[in-house]
Amino acid sequence: MEQSLKNQVALVTGASSGIGKGVAIFLAKAGAKVVVNYHSDEEGANDTIKQIKAIEGEGFAIKADVGDPDDVERMFDKIFKTYDNFDILVSNAGIQKDAPFEEMTLKDWNLVIQTNLTGAFICAQKAVKYFLKRGVVKDISKSAGKIVFMSSVHQEIPWAGHINYAAAKGGLTEFMRTLSQEVANKLIRVNSVAPGAIKTPINESVWKDEKKVKELLKLIPYNRLGEPEDVAEVVLWLASDKSEYVNGTTIFVDGGMTLYPGFIGNG
Ligand code: NAI
Ligand code: BGC
Repeated sequence: MEQSLKNQVALVTGASSGIGKGVAIFLAKAGAKVVVNYHSDEEGANDTIKQIKAIEGEGFAIKADVGDPDDVERMFDKIFKTYDNFDILVSNAGIQKDAPFEEMTLKDWNLVIQTNLTGAFICAQKAVKYFLKRGVVKDISKSAGKIVFMSSVHQEIPWAGHINYAAAKGGLTEFMRTLSQEVANKLIRVNSVAPGAIKTPINESVWKDEKKVKELLKLIPYNRLGEPEDVAEVVLWLASDKSEYVNGTTIFVDGGMTLYPGFIGNG
């Protein structure tokens, strides 16, 4: 693979499993030093680092709750102490706490917003402050810094029974666009990737059930579930100078899920 991220340092939040793990490994393959954030799955994070080292990559694992400003502060302090530069934030950590609206507890509403939306705010603010102070370093990248948020098709598709999650991803979209508008003139690039159904622990109750997979495939014109690598390819591109002129946009990686497949032969 081309070393498009050579000499760059990336932080991937929630990189102990699923999409975050895949992204961390892809960025490392492209030459970045990768900080692997995890919440509680230390073993998963260590495995990500092991896979990075196996390809002669570099990085370390660090525990932090993205929704806790003190944890995030400590995480960034460690990054700044360990490396001379910081270039890429992939704000990926996210959870689901599903329930019908009338049964959803305020606790589960708050937890999903805190992790999926406020967590993105806390991490992005730390990154932007650094990028603004540091500016562009020509030998590293054409941009002063890059942020990629992990959104979801549910920034666009309403999702009954998952109102906290859909609200967080919808909020994340306008957060991303506004932040990009605010910092693009400082050459900081901010974008989102919106995956469809990707086989990870977050939705294993669905993809481990044959009947549910059959139903789910009806929503995916391309007729297969996604893999973390499908998403990682796009994150890598957005983090690299190859996408230098791409600002404030969302790239859907969803096998066509957002194409209203219910209208095939219908309507
Ligand atoms: P996952 O459950 O494997 O990954 C989520 C990661 O976030 C885990 O590593 C978890 O430990 C971490 N995390 C949770 N709370 C955290 C916290 N407070 N602080 C730090 N880390 C925390 O599931 P997946 O699918 O890899 O999810 C990653 C992102 O992708 C999430 O934002 C999710 O909403 C998004 N996504 C996933 C899709 C899918 O079909 N798998 C589709 C669209 C979006
Ligand atoms: C959710 C997954 C779901 C996918 C498609 C994601 O945002 O986290 O559980 O399979 O959207 O609906």
